[in-house]
Amino acid sequence: MTKQLLLADLETAATMESIEQIRIKYLGRKGLITNLAKETDFSKFSQEEKKSFGQKLNELKIFATEQIEKAFERVKDLESGAVKMVRLVDLTVPGSVRSLGSMHPITMVQLELEQIFEGMGFAVLDSPEIETEFNNFEAINIPKDHPARDMQDTFWLKNDLVLRTHTSANQVRTLLRFGVPVRAIFPGRCFRYESIDPSHENTFYQSEGLMVDENVSVANLIGVMKTLLSEIFRRDVKVRLRPGFFPFVEPGFELDLNCMFCGGVGCSTCGDGWIELIPCGLVHPSVLEFGGIDPKRYSGFAFGLGLTRLAMMRFGIRDIRHFNSGDVRFYEQFAPIL
Ligand code: DAH
Repeated sequence: MTKQLLLADLETAATMESIEQIRIKYLGRKGLITNLAKETDFSKFSQEEKKSFGQKLNELKIFATEQIEKAFERVKDLESGAVKMVRLVDLTVPGSVRSLGSMHPITMVQLELEQIFEGMGFAVLDSPEIETEFNNFEAINIPKDHPARDMQDTFWLKNDLVLRTHTSANQVRTLLRFGVPVRAIFPGRCFRYESIDPSHENTFYQSEGLMVDENVSVANLIGVMKTLLSEIFRRDVKVRLRPGFFPFVEPGFELDLNCMFCGGVGCSTCGDGWIELIPCGLVHPSVLEFGGIDPKRYSGFAFGLGLTRLAMMRFGIRDIRHFNSGDVRFYEQFAPIL
């Protein structure tokens, strides 16, 4: 009987403390088992009976001591670190949801652009964000006193290097490095000293394109631009060239895209039916010379595509400040990386 009571008590005990209480309850000085001997009147017992009682009492004490010892061991394990951790895991709690990252919209447009140009045999080049003043300005026909410098004020570093104002800064480096014929695009980040508003940023992305070979003409430029835009906007597009001035091309153009919102009749996005999209032109002879190329034998075209601008048009983003905001709610709206 006492054995059953003891086992039942031990079964529910989960701490060292509560087992110690049980030990006292049964084996302590006034414990239930200890008292058995005290409360029994041995005077009526025969010698045999006394012996057998003594033996049974001893057995009971040994049994109780062993069981209590075992219980101590079990709880000691439970209270040690590893087992405690296991006890803390509640398998009925729903799992935690991990959100997937998404690609930055400019990266998406850039990757698409790279794929299209690779399909036309262009190399995709890396280019430095920190440039020499020479590469960013002089080498592409923007000498110190040229008014174009005002439009492209930038961040000057203490060692006379600049944060490049445009990817055009990599044109001459590319010519010197690869010679002719060359076909390459170089997408990347550019910087200008600019006050920020919904359509101006001091940090933005462009992609330069450059093709130089024998007999490259405006017809090649238009062909490449039309292929690019048809693929990006997934339809046959109409483009037009207007004269535009850039010191590093001659002739220079503004390439306009026939507005895909109104079909060219005029709307609030485009105004007169055309969207000004890609400045471009035939590479100026003196730029070719800076690149070690003979302008009498070779010609080429260059363009400077605003990647940030393209991403805004592609995704209908109206405020340029979203791109560098670090606001996850903005980024989450784009396709997750799977
Ligand atoms: N670099 C010019 C800018 O950022 C854009 C540009 C115009 C690039 C004409 C070109 C070009 O390659 O031919 O404003």
